Amino acid sequence: MCGIVAYVGQRQAYPVIVKGLKRLEYRGYDSSGIALLHNGLHVYRKKGKVADLEEYLVGKDLGGSIGIGHTRWATHGEPSDRNAHPHTSASGKLSMVHNGIIENYTQLKQELLRKGYTFHSDTDTEVLLKFIEDIQINNECALEEAVRIALRRVVGTYVILLIDQEHPDTLIAARKGSPLVIGIGKGEHFLASDATPIVEYTKEVVYVNDYEVAIIKPDELILKNLGNERQTPFITKLDLEMAAIEKGGYDHFMLKEINEQPSTIQDCLRGRMDAAAGTITMGGVQNHLTQFLQAPRIIMVACGTSWHAGLVAEYLFEELCRIPVEVEYASEFRYRNPIIHPGDVIVAISQSGETADTLVAIEKAKEQGAIIFGVVNAVGSSIARLSHAGAYTHAGPEIGVASTKAFTAQLAVLTMMALKVGVEKGTISTKRYEHLLTELASIPEKVKLILDKAEAIRKIAEKYQDARDFLYLGRGYNFPVALEGALKLKEISYIHAEGYPAAEMKHGPIALVDDQLPVVFVATKDSYHDKIVSNIQEIKARKGKVLAIVSEGDEIIPSMADDVFVVPEADEIVAPMLSVIPLQLLSYYIGVAKGLDVDKPRNLAKSVTVE
Ligand code: AGP
Repeated sequence: MCGIVAYVGQRQAYPVIVKGLKRLEYRGYDSSGIALLHNGLHVYRKKGKVADLEEYLVGKDLGGSIGIGHTRWATHGEPSDRNAHPHTSASGKLSMVHNGIIENYTQLKQELLRKGYTFHSDTDTEVLLKFIEDIQINNECALEEAVRIALRRVVGTYVILLIDQEHPDTLIAARKGSPLVIGIGKGEHFLASDATPIVEYTKEVVYVNDYEVAIIKPDELILKNLGNERQTPFITKLDLEMAAIEKGGYDHFMLKEINEQPSTIQDCLRGRMDAAAGTITMGGVQNHLTQFLQAPRIIMVACGTSWHAGLVAEYLFEELCRIPVEVEYASEFRYRNPIIHPGDVIVAISQSGETADTLVAIEKAKEQGAIIFGVVNAVGSSIARLSHAGAYTHAGPEIGVASTKAFTAQLAVLTMMALKVGVEKGTISTKRYEHLLTELASIPEKVKLILDKAEAIRKIAEKYQDARDFLYLGRGYNFPVALEGALKLKEISYIHAEGYPAAEMKHGPIALVDDQLPVVFVATKDSYHDKIVSNIQEIKARKGKVLAIVSEGDEIIPSMADDVFVVPEADEIVAPMLSVIPLQLLSYYIGVAKGLDVDKPRNLAKSVTVE
């Protein structure tokens, strides 16, 4: 996600802001910029790291005691100088940075284009800034009032910070849905996305609430709501150290990212799925709908956790769209000289968008005429750029090496894709389509309910932390989840774990079962439930320890298992986004119990950009 920093006070603003942007580098970004007021407005922006911006700024006018800074994690528009923040208004007098997503920016942009405005970037931020200034000019009102009027029209999430050449001692800020912290100094104020850039200057902070607008001068902080009513700033004392703040108060990035999933799945659905209206809007799919509808087959190409998401997608597309699906390890696919039929659609799934095996695999498929559709988290990454179309997962930067929130975001995107193609193809009824939209919309809240019970998983983890081997078993949509759970455990705790289709046990692996072997059953309520009950009986008959992930209301499996974790009931098609959560937590807590580096496990890299 983006990072923002601002300063107004007695010091030189530039050093405070640049240092603050570096404190926010952990959030991940692809460009940065800064705007300063010093005998006029100076705006500097650069693709790349903050260090690249600093190099670019050598010799520039960096004076002034008021400024705004930004590190950008691209959502609308490729990483580039022109899409970097801060943006400048049409008059050249205002500059703004923004963190969030303006969902109705296209509509606002059309209104402004009709008024003759031009745009120099692809961002929603530039649209919002010009919308604000247009209101200020037409209403002949103060900037703060124009901000309030504009934000009443905005749909989406934002933190915005504005500076105005006409008022060089005043910063205006507003927030809804994205974080904003204001540090209270003596004759100075510090603003940032979190307290990391602030804590070295002051521990007195105000957390701005949704729908509040802040008017900030060196020695004055005024808070108002969008109705222009004064709000009392609530000053709290920071008790977190810097390192803890970067992790949002969690002990590890992995735990932070596991807990971000209710909001990251929501962000993934936002602006695309409207369950009430019964619509799914995905430009990339829409623009290639014919290719999907006429595809002789779909080939999922990925590695690791993303490959597991591809396996879930095989069940989704075959059931909902009746299109044959193959799921390929990219590393095998690229060397096998695969047969590509004209019209084949390749779905490349990748969090980083830089995985070498996946990149080369789709390069070769593209040369043979396949349509490449990228399901990627990193905007503007190599795989995204190589794809003919795609859908970003909007999970934000994933710092922990083990992929968690990116996986559930991939599932959310792939489920929306299969639903959209299925309903267009007529392979699912409108009734079932609408039911599944409602089911999908309920996932963020259900994930939160699971996370609220994390302590129960921690207790189970402590019980099994010394096991030598694990088996993970599932059927249908839960088979890929079993594989993912096994991978998570291997990655984080270094314990050997294998995932299998539950019915496969009788073809050999059941010889492994004894009273030392924990067997994790991913057994949420679905069409395979009776079968998996038999599989559990086979394990219990051989004294295996059974840990079962079950749906609320299941009274059969809990009576058989040694340990049970209950997740909310959901249609089997969306259940993987729920059943994977306890498995993520299980691997995390076992890794922590064993005193391992769960954010940076041995031998692993976050993005495997080599063969
Ligand atoms: C998953 O926890 C691992 N970090 C790894 O398997 C990862 O999923 C794989 O390397 C693919 O990475 P990508 O999604 O960035 O392409």
